[in-house]
This record gives sequence, C-alpha cells and structure tokens, in this order.
Amino acid sequence: MKSSCSSSVGKKKSFDGFFHPQSIAVIGASNNTTKIGFQILHNLIAGGFPGKIYPINPRGKEIHGKKVYKSVKDVPGDIDLAVVTVPAQQVIQAMRECAEKGIKNAAIITSGFGEVGNHKDEDEIKRIADENEIAVLGPNILGLLYMPAKLNASFGPVELLPGKIAFISQSGALAIALMGWTVMEKIGLSSLCSLGNKVDVDEKDLIGYFNSDPNVDVILIYMEGLKDGREFLATEIRKPVIVLKVGRSSRGAKAAASHTGSLAGSDGVYNAVFKQMGILRASSFSEAFGWARAFSLPAPKGNNNVIITNGGGIGVAATDECEAAGIGLLEDLPWLESKFRSTMPDFGSTKNPIDITGQGGVQGYRDAVKIALSEDKIDGVFVLYCETAMTDPLEIAKAAAEEYDASGRKKPLAVALVGGEDSRRALQLLNERKIPAYSEVKDVVSSFKILREWKKNQDRPRDGDVQYEPPNEAVSYIDTIRKEGRTILMEHEARKVLEMCGVPMPKWGFARSLDEAKKQAEGMYPLAMKIASPEIIHKSDVGGVVLNIGSREELESKYNEMMARIKKLMPGANLLGVNIVQMVSGIECIAGMSQDPQFGPVVMFGLGGVLVEALKDVSFRIAPFGEKEAERLMAEIKAKNILDGFRGIHADKAGLIKVLCAIQKLSAIVKEVDINPLITNNNGTFAADARIVL
Ligand code: COA
Repeated sequence: MKSSCSSSVGKKKSFDGFFHPQSIAVIGASNNTTKIGFQILHNLIAGGFPGKIYPINPRGKEIHGKKVYKSVKDVPGDIDLAVVTVPAQQVIQAMRECAEKGIKNAAIITSGFGEVGNHKDEDEIKRIADENEIAVLGPNILGLLYMPAKLNASFGPVELLPGKIAFISQSGALAIALMGWTVMEKIGLSSLCSLGNKVDVDEKDLIGYFNSDPNVDVILIYMEGLKDGREFLATEIRKPVIVLKVGRSSRGAKAAASHTGSLAGSDGVYNAVFKQMGILRASSFSEAFGWARAFSLPAPKGNNNVIITNGGGIGVAATDECEAAGIGLLEDLPWLESKFRSTMPDFGSTKNPIDITGQGGVQGYRDAVKIALSEDKIDGVFVLYCETAMTDPLEIAKAAAEEYDASGRKKPLAVALVGGEDSRRALQLLNERKIPAYSEVKDVVSSFKILREWKKNQDRPRDGDVQYEPPNEAVSYIDTIRKEGRTILMEHEARKVLEMCGVPMPKWGFARSLDEAKKQAEGMYPLAMKIASPEIIHKSDVGGVVLNIGSREELESKYNEMMARIKKLMPGANLLGVNIVQMVSGIECIAGMSQDPQFGPVVMFGLGGVLVEALKDVSFRIAPFGEKEAERLMAEIKAKNILDGFRGIHADKAGLIKVLCAIQKLSAIVKEVDINPLITNNNGTFAADARIVL
C-alpha cells in the first residue's frame, strides 16, 4: 500500500520508502548476535514487518532463515528502503550500489562521519543522494520505527506501544533510552525517527511529512541544533509540534556542537523562532511527553474548569497552578453547590475544588466526574486523587475512564494521582486508555495549559507575507560611509538613516559650531548635547554627553566646556560638532536588530535604559515580520504591564510597532541597529539615541 501522505525533500525525493516500504534491504546484516546488523534484521522480523526483507552480506548463505544476497544489485525485485549498517569506510560503496539498484530511501546507521570531523565522506554521501534522488536519514542514527506499517528498522531494545505521537530525535542514544521509558509509562508512539548528522533529511522534512500523516497527531522533537535556521523557520506547522531544545547554556551549546557537528544558535533566538512558528518548547522530557499526551484530548471550548479531588492540599496546589497558568476555575458557587452536593459527605466542599473528601470513595468520584462531563457550563475536568487506605486508586482510575468514554470525550479530562505503587499502576491504566495522567499536580495543570497555548497559537492573527526594502537614499548614504572605510555610524548619521526608514525622532539637529547649535536649539530646550566625532565611539567616557541643558546661556557654556575638555583628552580627534536632541521622558525601551549566524536578522525589543544589561528583559523575533508579530513581541517582556500604563504614563504601542517594523528595512544592509533608549509616552515614541554598525 502506497501512502497517500507522500512528502518530498528537495524536488523529487519521496518519504514513502521510509514509512510505507514494501521491501527492505539490511546492508551489513550479520549472523553475529552481538552486531547491530543482526539486531536490525531481528527487530524487523520480530516487529512483524509484512513486506520483503533482504539481508545483504558478502558472505551470502542465510541469516534468520532468510536468503542472504551479496549485494543489493543481486536482489531480484525492487527495494524501497536500505538500512545501512556497514562500517564507515564501506558506506559510500554501499550507497553507490543503492543508487545503481534504484533505491530511493536509505537509513544510514553507521557512525564516523561529520560528528568526528569526517565531512568529506558525509559530503560524498550527500552528493550521491542528491544525484540519484535518494532521501537519506542519518548517518549516525538508531534507525526508524513506524508503528502503522509494523516497521522497526532500528536497533532499539524494545517494541514501541502504538499511539499517535511521532518522536524525532537528533540523538540516537537518547531515543534508545526513551523507547524503554515510553513503554514503561504506557505512552504510545506512531513513529520514532533518529536524525543523527542530518546529511539530508532533517526536522523540517519530517514535520512536512507528518503534517499530512493521519497516523500522527502530535510531533515531538529532541533538538540540539539546526543546520539551516531559515529553512526551518519556513516550515508549516499544522499539528502541535513540541520541541525539547538542549544547549541552553553556553557550555551546553558547546557540548551540543561537538556532539553532532552542528551549531547550536543562541537560546534567546531559538525561543523567538519557536514562538514565531507556534512551536511549543518544553524544558524536560517528562514535560514534553506529558504535553504530547495531552493532545489526545479534545480542545477546550472555554476556560471554565473544575477540579475534583479527595484532598484539600492537592486541591489548593492545583488552584495555585491554575492561577499561574491562566487556567480558569468555574466560580458560580450556588450552581456548583446545586450540582455537586450530592456527591460528597456533609463536610465536603463544592467550592471548586470540588472536594469529595477522603470518604468520597469510588462512587463519589464517579458521580462527580459524570456531572462535570455532562454539564455544558464546564469546559474541562481535573481529577485529582491522593492515595488513601480507604480507596483503591485503580478503581478510581477505572471509574474516571469509564465515565469519560461514556461521555463521548467531548471535553478535556486529565488526572493526577499522588501516591505509591498502586497509584502508579492506576496511572499506567489511564495512560493506556489515552487519558493523560500524571503523578504531579503541576503536570496535570500544564496539560491543559498547553492545549490552550496551542489553540492560541493556531488562532493568532498572522501578518501574511511581509518584505522590507531599504529606502534608496539610505542605501546610497550608507555606501558613502562604507567607502570612507568606517563601520560605525556617528549618531547624526544613524539618526538620518533611521529617519529615512520612518523611525520617529525627538526634535534634533546636527550643529558644526556653537552658533549653529544655538540657532537650532530654539524651541528645543531642555535638550541633550552630544559630541560628534568619527574617533569617539563611547561619548560619555570623554564627557561628550551633557543632559538637560535648559537655556541658550547654558548651552553656550556647556558647549565651550565640552570642546575644551575633549580637545585636551583626545587632541587628535576630529571634532565635527555636536548633536542636540530634545529631552523626552517616558518609558525607556530598547529596540535593536542584529545578525544571527543561523537565522539572519533578529529584532530585539525590551525594557531599555541603563539597566538593560542587568535586567535582560528583552525578547526577539526573526525578520521579516509584520505588525501583528511585533505586537506579540512587545507583549512578551516581563515588564509588559509597564507598557500598559504606569504612574500616568502609557506606551505609544502603535509607535513602538512602527519602530520594530521600520528597523527591519535595514536588515539587508547593516549589521546592527541599537535604539536605546527608545522613549515612549502618551504623546508618541522617540529614538533618544541611535547606533548603527555596518
Ligand atoms: N556489504 C554488506 N555487508 C558488509 C559489507 C558490504 N559492503 N562490508 C562488510 N559487511 C558486513 C560484515 O562482513 C559484517 O558481517 P559479518 O558479521 O557477517 O562479518 C557486517 O557487515 C558488519 O560489519 P562489521 O565490520 O562487522 O562492522 P560492525 O558490525 O562491527 O559495525 C557499524 C558496523 C555500522 C555498526 C559500526 O561501524 C558503527 O557505526 N557503529 C555505531 C553505530 C551507532 O552507534 N550509530 C548511532 C546510533 S545513535
């Protein structure tokens, strides 16, 4: 059966051979039970793969009762997938033979390529693959599994439990470890693909394939780094994609780089990428899989949830978690009392948490869950249970699962069971029955939070196709500066360029003499005066900045003092004059643009001023993006409440958005833009300082 969900890498490569092969060759299959070539053949057969399996080994004879061919070229029929398990020195020859045989999909298990500096052979693999339209997974991988096709082309230790999660792992060793863990936790997977060195197939290709695979509901990726950030950024996200990206710390990033030979970009930028794409970023495996399981639930229609519990403590803990996560709890107390009173003893509470108490028992749970599931007023149900000697957690779990199935699973229901061995067995039962169940209250709340986040991501207003061109006058202005051999623009030059792009400025002027300064300063007081010299980059260090000049007289004296001071300190500096800039007050922000080696131009926004380095309250987006994304970027900083209004001053959000879009016009022609502070107040937004690096 050919898959209807064919996808392609590059122009003509197909993925059907990976996920719906009819025939598989194991190149390097061995009779030696200690070898990977034996294990893969064994797993293919033990997994019940229904198609043809061809062991390939120059010794010939039989392995596992199957006739062995000396080369793929000797196999009489077609081969859809080659699993390569020969040593590194043999891989290129094996790939050439695959090409001659017309094989279109290869999974190269072998290590010893890019990850140890052997890029030459890796490049040759890529060349053969592209020339012959072979899609290649690896090298340096565990293999791949695809449960709907009973395909276990891996040397993993166990069979997976079937489910609808596709797990893509850059690390094979980790995938092996997690295989066993998912089985223990009763987490079902539809696929596991190890990516290794990603010579050809990578994350974006598999997301693209699984986007239209009905056997996959959610995609979980373990990522160390991307090879092509901008290509990844262009990937369409149709299903929930959860990423566990490691290499957050700078030390971690180095370890990741040497592990797979790929670069881990800066963490803030990755965060931006995931947010921009609507990808959900988890911070641990249990969180990632916990979220993935939540997607077996229907999306919540609203935010009126109930907590059903037998313990006040976990009820309060869940309430706290809900509040922190933005999960609403139904507050109509008389209604709750009228509906739930009958499910509990007199001393129970209907105040949501619905506390049926330790005496509530299985029947109490069953009744309360049934009511919560049947009432339209309730959008989602948390079932919490603290293990007691009074009730068997397994019975509680069964009751919850039965009621959930009977209700037709129309709203989300998730369970937290806190206790020992019995609770663990109950958790497994629930997970087997596709009800997300956790041993911690925070995880059960997190499962709802992620459903909401995904829905929010899907519903978020999009900008459509946005492109920014630098204005012609800015291009030629910058060219002239470049020709002078300078890479840092003086402030008045940076201001001019930013003005050309549409960045709003306070009143300002560039004066070559005191007379010019005095003339320009009319109507501008109070103002700041700053030295303009190509040799002076850090103006404050030489006393080249004077703030709050309130009058013509003060301007004159401060001008003369400044010039005398700097001439003495830097006798060789070419003092072109001064910038005078009207003082503005308001909320101090920062907006900037820099170039990331992985993703290209990155725009930053945050709380600015002198504390920007200390507070690091900034967020990023990858250019180009439009006004809607700019608005989300602004809403992401911790100090967002300050923007909404603080001590009578509120931000001019439209002005800030305009700046965030305007600076993107420079993304193709300059290296860095820094506007700090970018002052915003009730009257507008103003670039109080400006810096551009070429
Ligand atoms: N075609 C077919 N079979 C060939 C061959 C060829 N061109 N060249 C050699 N073989 C056979 C060998 O004869 C051997 O079979 P045998 O046991 O009958 O002698 C078999 O292929 C394997 O070759 P061998 O030299 O024994 O290698 P090996 O099994 O010790 O190691 C790898 C091969 C691929 C497993 C090893 O090189 C490797 O890369 N290991 C790391 C894999 C890994 O960890 N991947 C990443 C996971 S995260």
